[in-house]
Amino acid sequence: MKLVIAATGASGAIYTQRLLEQIDCVANEVHLVMSAYARQVAKQELEDFKIPAAARRHSESDMNVPFVSGSARFDAMVIVPCSMATLGRIASGASDSVLLRAADVFLKERRKLIVVPRETPWNLIHARNVVTLLEAGAIVLPAIPSFYSRPDSVNAVVDTVISRILDQIGLPNQGAYRWGEEKGSTKTSRNKN
Ligand SMILES: Cc1cc2nc3c(=O)[nH]c(=O)nc-3n(C[C@H](O)[C@H](O)[C@H](O)COP(=O)(O)O)c2cc1C
Repeated sequence: MKLVIAATGASGAIYTQRLLEQIDCVANEVHLVMSAYARQVAKQELEDFKIPAAARRHSESDMNVPFVSGSARFDAMVIVPCSMATLGRIASGASDSVLLRAADVFLKERRKLIVVPRETPWNLIHARNVVTLLEAGAIVLPAIPSFYSRPDSVNAVVDTVISRILDQIGLPNQGAYRWGEEKGSTKTSRNKN
């Protein structure tokens, strides 16, 4: 698959990190764009933000990348975490950075754009911008973990969101806890005790 992973300055750099760890960046073509605030938040939240060697990293300002053109075929773009600032800019049609232009292109080409906002509580502007993105065809997948699999670590909590992202992209998701399929799950079965 050909994928764009974008990170912005919302809290939750660990979501970007866990997603990059769980995507095979050799078998898949993975392009990474991080906003300036994403880099700042990653420094604040993680000891060491690791980018897989095979991932192709791009600056926010260099439009000389394939995924800002509708002519280049890509399978999905994930913005994780997505700040309300970036979500609002996309909803307004702004496309004056690589990240925003890519989101704009994915929407206009009806390609899969998965937006993972992290903010609470929401104001009415946030809610309206989310509706605008939904109407434009985006998948809005908030960074809201679930607990019915009884996650026992921060990574396990984060992975309840990552699992939903991988499913939406259509990538293998071996460790996923699936309700009603406890027997197949080795790491998160509710019946393990
Ligand atoms: C430590 C830290 C945590 C932040 N957390 C959030 C957040 O959870 N959600 C959000 O929408 N913005 C958050 N912000 C604010 C954004 O970083 C800010 O709005 C920025 O302009 C986003 O720019 P970007 O979307 O280009 O990355 C946070 C900022 C800092 C410094």
